Amino acid sequence: MSNLVIIDHPLVMHKLSILRDVNTGKKEFREIVRELAQFMCFEATKNLPLEDYEITTPITKMIAKRISGKNLSVIPILRAGLGMVDGVLDLIPTAKVGHIGLYRDPETLTPVEYYCKLPTQIEERHIFVLDPMLATGGSAISAISFLKDKGCNNINFMCILAAPEGVEKLQLAHPDINIYVCAVDEKLNDHGYIVPGLGDAGDRLFGTK
Ligand code: PRP
Ligand code: URA
Repeated sequence: MSNLVIIDHPLVMHKLSILRDVNTGKKEFREIVRELAQFMCFEATKNLPLEDYEITTPITKMIAKRISGKNLSVIPILRAGLGMVDGVLDLIPTAKVGHIGLYRDPETLTPVEYYCKLPTQIEERHIFVLDPMLATGGSAISAISFLKDKGCNNINFMCILAAPEGVEKLQLAHPDINIYVCAVDEKLNDHGYIVPGLGDAGDRLFGTK
């Protein structure tokens, strides 16, 4: 089974409660999504390989550490994943950003692709797919399948809130990826929304509806 990491740090829990609150406005919602993405990025990059290199401090030369290996790529699933991009870039400004556009058909709840633009040599990169919500799992599964079809084999998925149904489906479909999440909620409702959840992440980020 894929590795599920729940980031239940007290600061994350505190901010997540504000995010869930129906009275939280767009500005604060966007700020918190960005901050939570920073926390998740910190955790998700914990095992990146390091290499030695020489630097000179004001005092002396020393062998220092830097992240080695393949370049990183951040891939938000449009639209709501966009809200997490800047939080990750705050910590990894050199990451390349690709975009995969998917929306859930409101009747069937299945993902429909409408856009894709990926960085060059995507198959060689260490990838972080971003989407604040993992509900039925359809969107994440389809985005990750698409990346695997392009040859990617080092894929991590970062989401803020998940439903148990979505986690299970994603783990079954892609047992090789790491899933980072701030909380796994109780269930999905009849419309495919996470309960208790935070509502429609895209609408709350961008003020639509
Ligand atoms: C939301 C969310 C995920 C998807 C999750 O996007 O951002 O992409 O639903 O649901 P799933 O796990 O059942 O696929 P939505 O389709 O509402 O599009 P939006 O981001 O453009 O609002
Ligand atoms: N997408 C959202 O934005 N919210 C949910 O609860 C489920 C899917």
